Amino acid sequence: MSDTLDTKLWKPRSVSETRKVYQDWAATYDDDVIGSGYATPARLAAIAAKYCARDLPLLDFGCGTGLSGAALFAAGFATIDGTDLTPEMLDIAQGKMIYRALWQGSGDAIAVTRGDYATITATGVVSLGAAPPETLGTLLDCLATGGHLALSFNDPTLADPRYVAALDGVMNDGRAMLVAREHGPHLTGKGMGSDVILLRRL
Ligand SMILES: C[S@@+](CC[C@H](N)C(=O)[O-])C[C@H]1O[C@@H](n2cnc3c(N)ncnc32)[C@H](O)[C@@H]1O
Repeated sequence: MSDTLDTKLWKPRSVSETRKVYQDWAATYDDDVIGSGYATPARLAAIAAKYCARDLPLLDFGCGTGLSGAALFAAGFATIDGTDLTPEMLDIAQGKMIYRALWQGSGDAIAVTRGDYATITATGVVSLGAAPPETLGTLLDCLATGGHLALSFNDPTLADPRYVAALDGVMNDGRAMLVAREHGPHLTGKGMGSDVILLRRL
């Protein structure tokens, strides 16, 4: 088990530094987070399945090694594409045979056209130590009116005013409305929680 979860993760860093963290972590990521009781993917997939069309294409933004995609597949989503910043994480996702398509991308270059996806998910991605707060608005701008964004904010992210302001901002500027929000376990072995949040694009 690597010490990434304990020592390296929950702090702001540049995109290139983030890629290096996940590049170095990719080989042990699944064992580390599953071993720490990673509960957010199933919780986020359940809230998405409740409110979003499962027969329309979904983009798993920041798909990592595919744990979030596996939870979405188990919740009944039929067509899942994935994108991520870190090629080493994508290589592992590729081996899981969950995704229709996978490509390297980031909040600065997602490479989708508005409305391509009825639903976009970001499980553990728009977070302190991963994608920056402004990614929230970028993802919403990839959705047509009526599309959904399901995302999670873990406890360290909920304590960061920049992420809270980004969430408030997209609701206050009329881009999104809150459909559902639930607090629950994130990494049970670390005693850490997360909010899963479902937004509808207006
Ligand atoms: C905690 S992992 C979550 C992975 C997966 N969604 C899961 O639930 O296991 C965060 C992922 O976000 C990706 N990431 C970080 N910053 C990003 C950015 N700016 N754009 C796209 N992906 C990013 C990382 O490469 C990493 O795979």
